[in-house]
Amino acid sequence: MFITLEGGEGTGKTTQQTLLAEQLQKKGYACLCTREPGGTALGKELRALLLHGDPISPTAELLLYAADRAEHVQTRIRPALAAGQVVLCDRFTDSTLAYQGYGRDLDLGVIRQLNQLATGGLEPDLTLWLDLPPELGLARARSRSRQGYEVSQTVGVDPLHPSQDNGGETPDRMEQAQWVFHQRLYQGFQTLAAAEPERIVRIDAEGSPQEVAERIWQVVSARLSQG
Ligand code: TMP
Repeated sequence: MFITLEGGEGTGKTTQQTLLAEQLQKKGYACLCTREPGGTALGKELRALLLHGDPISPTAELLLYAADRAEHVQTRIRPALAAGQVVLCDRFTDSTLAYQGYGRDLDLGVIRQLNQLATGGLEPDLTLWLDLPPELGLARARSRSRQGYEVSQTVGVDPLHPSQDNGGETPDRMEQAQWVFHQRLYQGFQTLAAAEPERIVRIDAEGSPQEVAERIWQVVSARLSQG
């Protein structure tokens, strides 16, 4: 079974991935926990470029996410599924539609074609969309960044104009652009979930990690028992 976790910044995907893997392992399932970008050796290099390198143009960024995914699906996800493992992937194709499509306004049709090329048609059996209002997610992500955790470039810089010199901009304008971006990607996830309600299940991501983990387990255990 192939399960993806999706959502905006600071929605708790990584914590929930770990908790879900622990629960699955207790029930006797073998799991692969992986993520995009960064699930392979090539992907780790791409992740460093994408998240911490110099700003890059939106189209180049899109192609790097696709390259990361192609390598990941081919060398890690498909082999794990073939070996009967449950694959838990932190972000996948829906992130590209939400961030590059709805967020950066790149053509959704082109992104779908690239997703198809990169995955060879592999789709998640279940996608858990961790739904948290962007203002709460951003606050969580910023506090994580203050504690020294890795945080993406989209938290803290103007995500719509990453290559511009923001030296002359007031913090208000930057924050405004950032806010618009995160609102757009939130609406993107809402639209994607509404279009594919069978695959994409909305999980209320407010509350303690244990509360959210229980909501997730209800959904996942029901799917596993369906076979
Ligand atoms: P993460 O640590 O939350 O997974 O951060 C990865 C960042 O990469 C996050 O800001 C979302 C971004 N991203 C995209 O913009 N497009 C994609 O296709 C993927 C997989 C991630």
